[in-house]
Amino acid sequence: MGLLTGDALYSVAVALAVFLLLVDLMHRRQRWAARYPPGPVPVPGLGNLLQVDFENPAYSFYKVLNAFPMLLRIPGVAEKALPALKAFLDLQDELLTEHRMTWDPSQPPRDLTDAFLAEVVKVKGNPESSFNDENLRMVVGNLFTAGMVTTSTTLAWALLLMILHPDEQRRVQQEIDKVIGPGRCPEMADQAHMPFTNAVIHEVQRFADIIPMNLPHMTSRDTEVQGFLIPKGTTLITNLSSVLKDETAWEKPLKFYPAHFLDAEGRFVKPEAFMPFSAGPRICLGEPLARMELFLFFTSLLQRFSFSVPEGQPRPSDHGVSYFLVIPPPYQLCAVAR
Ligand code: HEM
Repeated sequence: MGLLTGDALYSVAVALAVFLLLVDLMHRRQRWAARYPPGPVPVPGLGNLLQVDFENPAYSFYKVLNAFPMLLRIPGVAEKALPALKAFLDLQDELLTEHRMTWDPSQPPRDLTDAFLAEVVKVKGNPESSFNDENLRMVVGNLFTAGMVTTSTTLAWALLLMILHPDEQRRVQQEIDKVIGPGRCPEMADQAHMPFTNAVIHEVQRFADIIPMNLPHMTSRDTEVQGFLIPKGTTLITNLSSVLKDETAWEKPLKFYPAHFLDAEGRFVKPEAFMPFSAGPRICLGEPLARMELFLFFTSLLQRFSFSVPEGQPRPSDHGVSYFLVIPPPYQLCAVAR
């Protein structure tokens, strides 16, 4: 066996170095991946900003888009990645076009879109103004998205809690029968005479706590709160749950207990700690509308139907499932006309 010299020795040395480098990289990767539970693994350098699950490329695609939203500007990507959003925006554009065609500026505005269109005309030619077609799309889109899922999720919670608490359901129905009766639709004026129903709806919102971490805010200037300095530009996440489930404010914070909203005489009371719509200047813009929707839909449903757990089905859980909102766990119900 002869000794390796010259070019041959050089090639072997390079191959060995590459081999050792690869082995080292594999070990490093294994050590690095072992620190994380199975599933998506943070990418070195980008950390949790971009969690990629190599076994689920479709899901990872959304993560990539979330981290680099400018990719959505590539023609065709948004339609492919978010078909439901595309369908929603198309529907909204149809509504706006129809509005533009039927809008009569000489008549009082029919709604927010008409009022916005009037402003767009007034400031035409002023590039500084925010009253333009693109912002009209955004404002109307925001109202739809902020207003639809929040109210329907709360109603889904309300029905779940009614099948889990049939006594409370019966008491609501007795109040409906007494104040409204079977012959007409509920009206907002009825609310003042229905303290128990009102208490149940408020307790549904408190218990369900559908937006526990509120929407993020940012300080627009240096601010001092209880001696703590919060510098300008800090993102703040307020914990609405800590108030809605505060054990110093509620008798049974973790239970569904409509009496939280009733005084000793059975009159409706609203404790200060009730803030599912947040608080302060940026409190939910749609609160008055949401209140009306919840009251009218809830009483209409219970006026006409009794709800129960379907026979032979297990009692559903009342533990919420956290997405962006906290939604009720999947459940089935049986609706029987009254
Ligand atoms: C049960 C129903 C609803 C709940 C629990 C709810 C809750 C909230 C919360 C917690 C916020 C964040 C407030 C903050 O930033 O401090 C918010 C904001 C907002 N909500 Fe609602 N909401 C509901 C229904 C609605 C409806 C029906 C609409 C409109 C049709 C609406 C429109 C908005 C808008 C536009 C904002 C942003 C306000 C701003 O940033 O100034 N919401 N909502």
